[in-house]
Amino acid sequence: MNNAEILKDIIEQRRSIFPKDYSETEIAQEIIDEILHSATLAPNHKRTKPWRFKIFRGEEKAKLALEMQSIYKATQSEQTFLEKKYQDIGFKINKADAVISIVVNFSGMVPEWEEIAAVSMAVQNMYLTCTANHIGCYWSSPAIVNHLKESLTIEENQKCLGLFYLGNLS
Ligand SMILES: Cc1cc2nc3c(=O)[nH]c(=O)nc-3n(C[C@H](O)[C@H](O)[C@H](O)COP(=O)(O)O)c2cc1C
Repeated sequence: MNNAEILKDIIEQRRSIFPKDYSETEIAQEIIDEILHSATLAPNHKRTKPWRFKIFRGEEKAKLALEMQSIYKATQSEQTFLEKKYQDIGFKINKADAVISIVVNFSGMVPEWEEIAAVSMAVQNMYLTCTANHIGCYWSSPAIVNHLKESLTIEENQKCLGLFYLGNLS
């Protein structure tokens, strides 16, 4: 296949794949590095590089799962709290081999939507690099990420846009 055919193939193959379908095996660190590197190649106006990605694996990821669960609990009333949803938040983060927090940094140099657009293009690069490496992934954007405080340091001019889940496919 020539480059155009390879690119078309990867774009057509890309899908959101959820943690229940990830295998328990570890993604090689070189591939994680490649995924993050591809993100940094996204176009961005005035070279503000507005993405702030933090990778969670192992113990830090387990802590993230607990924090997400406790935020969910704290933001629900007794009537709206669902035990299944609570368990599912923990299951997804624990089942993924790695989770990357997606944060946008607003530089003030360009409109905010342009920074969000650039971060989204960076995430698309991660999706495509995952596809090319047979890694399942998806962008999750629950409102509770706005309350993350212990796992993430969010500055005044930043906003968390969600979590990117990754796992090898069996
Ligand atoms: C900005 C953004 C936020 C998303 N948030 C969620 C989410 O919170 N939960 C979810 O299940 N999927 C989420 N997705 C993934 C979409 O559901 C998915 O892309 C869509 O169903 C199309 O499937 P595909 O990615 O396989 O083409 C998000 C996608 C984008 C681009």
